[in-house]
Amino acid sequence: MLAELFRQSARDCAGASPLTSTLLAAASADLDSGGPTRRVMANAERARAGDVPALRFAAAVHRVVLEGRAPALAAHYPTVGGSPELGALWADARGVVEEHADELRALVDTTTVQTNEPGRSGPLFGGLHTATALAAAAAGRRTPFPVRLLEVGASGGLNLRPHRIAYLHGDRVFGDPGSPLRLDTGWSGEPDGDLDRPLRLVGRGGCDPNPVDVSTVDGRQHLLSFVWPDQRERWTRLGAALDLAAVDPVPVRRAPASEWLGEQLARPERDVLTVVWHSVVWQYASAAERAAGRAVLASAAERATAAAPLALLVFEPRRGHDPALPHEFQLLLKLWPAGRSLRLGAGGPHGTPFTWESAPWV
Ligand SMILES: C[S@@+](CC[C@H](N)C(=O)[O-])C[C@H]1O[C@@H](n2cnc3c(N)ncnc32)[C@H](O)[C@@H]1O
Repeated sequence: MLAELFRQSARDCAGASPLTSTLLAAASADLDSGGPTRRVMANAERARAGDVPALRFAAAVHRVVLEGRAPALAAHYPTVGGSPELGALWADARGVVEEHADELRALVDTTTVQTNEPGRSGPLFGGLHTATALAAAAAGRRTPFPVRLLEVGASGGLNLRPHRIAYLHGDRVFGDPGSPLRLDTGWSGEPDGDLDRPLRLVGRGGCDPNPVDVSTVDGRQHLLSFVWPDQRERWTRLGAALDLAAVDPVPVRRAPASEWLGEQLARPERDVLTVVWHSVVWQYASAAERAAGRAVLASAAERATAAAPLALLVFEPRRGHDPALPHEFQLLLKLWPAGRSLRLGAGGPHGTPFTWESAPWV
């Protein structure tokens, strides 16, 4: 039942976002009592848990706040300079839900939960250094390979600029120290490879069945609205990543992974390391799509040579060593034709903090 899904989402985000949790708990009671939330959610009454209707509701309300059309509620939202007063939140939210019910319903009906986490560029950056160094060693090259980066499930493409970010690690800065995006990596340990050597990207591209065009106001607002409003670090990071995307646009093609990869991997490219990358994507693809993606990759792996190597680098939730935790977010690397298969580390869902290691991926 819908109100129960709202209560579940309220519990799930209580630690990370007290504001979202309070909003959703109050909205669940409002659903029970037939208040304005019911009008907003009229077309989502039979939603499945996987559609996370409550998070779509919270994002729609956030969007109205971001657009400056809910001044009383804005006073609670740190993303527009407010400061949450949880006890008074619903009193101010209810009026907004009532006044904007039709528009909120349209937003809830037409959006899926869509995020793009630039913090995941931290594991990507380190993983690329390791991959280029290992591929070079396997090919007998003295210098690391330049990279052709192919991202599936790229969303707004915000992780397609790993060479243009300043990565802060203790008192050191890797990557591009002048970047508007300064990523506090939260690293324990370091990846293999010479991190002071610039990463050379000679090609970049991404695909997503539901891409977000971050060159438009609508696309930017869409991604911003899905950040929980009291998560300031995540908000700042996303804003800086959008600024970076504005000066270095990379289009994301509307296509599922297998179709797009089939085109991109049709011919091996010499003197570059082709890297297929995805983060927190695989669980959203259907079983058929995953099988098709694996088949495309396997056939490209057969064609890879020491001079035209191929890598798969992924940051995805998997069962970890600690049985008390349901899963952890692991960085995994496969390299062809070198035949390497490594677990490079694990970290928080948004890519930071992150602990580097190097162990077989089995
Ligand atoms: C949680 S988001 C992660 C976005 C991005 N990779 C990141 O780490 O910020 C999951 C993304 O996977 C995309 N997706 C779902 N099914 C897909 C498929 N079959 N092929 C490629 N991407 C897919 C969704 O559209 C969505 O943008």
